[in-house]
Amino acid sequence: MSSASEISQAAKALRAGELVAFPTETVYGLGADATNDLAVAKVYEAKGRPSFNPLICHVADAEAAFALGAFPALAKRLADLFWPGPMTIVVRRTAACPVSMLASAGLESLALRVPQHDVALSLLRAFKGPVVAPSANRSGGLSPTTAEHVRQSLKDSAQLVLDGGPCHIGVESTVVSFLGDTPTVLRPGGLSGDVLQEALGAQLDVRPNQARPHSPGQLESHYAPRARLRLAAKRPAEHEVYLGFGLYDHGPFNLSRSGDPVEAAANLFRMLHDIDATGASIIAVAPIPTSGLGEAINDRLRRAAAPRPAT
Ligand code: TXA
Ligand code: MG
Repeated sequence: MSSASEISQAAKALRAGELVAFPTETVYGLGADATNDLAVAKVYEAKGRPSFNPLICHVADAEAAFALGAFPALAKRLADLFWPGPMTIVVRRTAACPVSMLASAGLESLALRVPQHDVALSLLRAFKGPVVAPSANRSGGLSPTTAEHVRQSLKDSAQLVLDGGPCHIGVESTVVSFLGDTPTVLRPGGLSGDVLQEALGAQLDVRPNQARPHSPGQLESHYAPRARLRLAAKRPAEHEVYLGFGLYDHGPFNLSRSGDPVEAAANLFRMLHDIDATGASIIAVAPIPTSGLGEAINDRLRRAAAPRPAT
């Protein structure tokens, strides 16, 4: 088990923008300060994922979750019944939500969970803020259920690995979305569908089949700016707003003047939102190298630039 001094050291590392792996009752998570764009970008880098998926934000209690997301009555009921525990709730972000837009992958929604594990809860209380934490493994690897798995999979990406012994549930949390008319299970997990169904009665849609087109979750699963995008643009044409990178620098918006893909990822969704807010109709985006997080950035830009179905 982790000592009080290890917990306070870990909280300090989070405050400094470092990554800390910690045990939960489901799997070990790779944690970062959820309000720090750069720290969140480091999580994606450490996972080595070629695309940005929204991350789960961990908090110490339901009250903290209610400040970050807008919980309808039914969602509050689930929170009361099953938190702390292996359940994640997806709701709209509150207007003042300080969580990095990269954690939401640019969406207006946020996934929140109160884990049930002494070490996780002690860390969250010591840190006093929201912590994003996907499973602490490289993309494509198995979810880690011991500290040793984490060390093997992530090598030196985490500043610290808190050891809480083996996770007793061993599969990820159940994800329930409250974005549509009916609560919907997006990912089956540690809290069984039957137990949820019993709590909510008929008011639950179990739709873990992500391939099904036009499910409410799917429609909102990718953020795209309102403006159209022109990619690999070395300079803006008239009436275009430019989103620069490195030396391709025209105007106020540059993902990373030093050409750092981690900084660029940290800025991506916030800057796209900011440019949208200027009323721009076309965003010309600088060429972005595909190394490191550049691959995920290019993936997201390509999707955002693709022709969109009418909504
Ligand atoms: O058990 C768990 O949940 C573990 C431990 C560490 O807490 N965490 C975990 O986190 O699995 P992560 O970030 O890998 O899980 C993300 C899941 C994905 O299925 C993702 O699609 C969904 O949550 N998710 C996150 N934010 C979402 C959002 N805004 N809308 C819809 N789904 C979201
Ligand atoms: Mg995972």
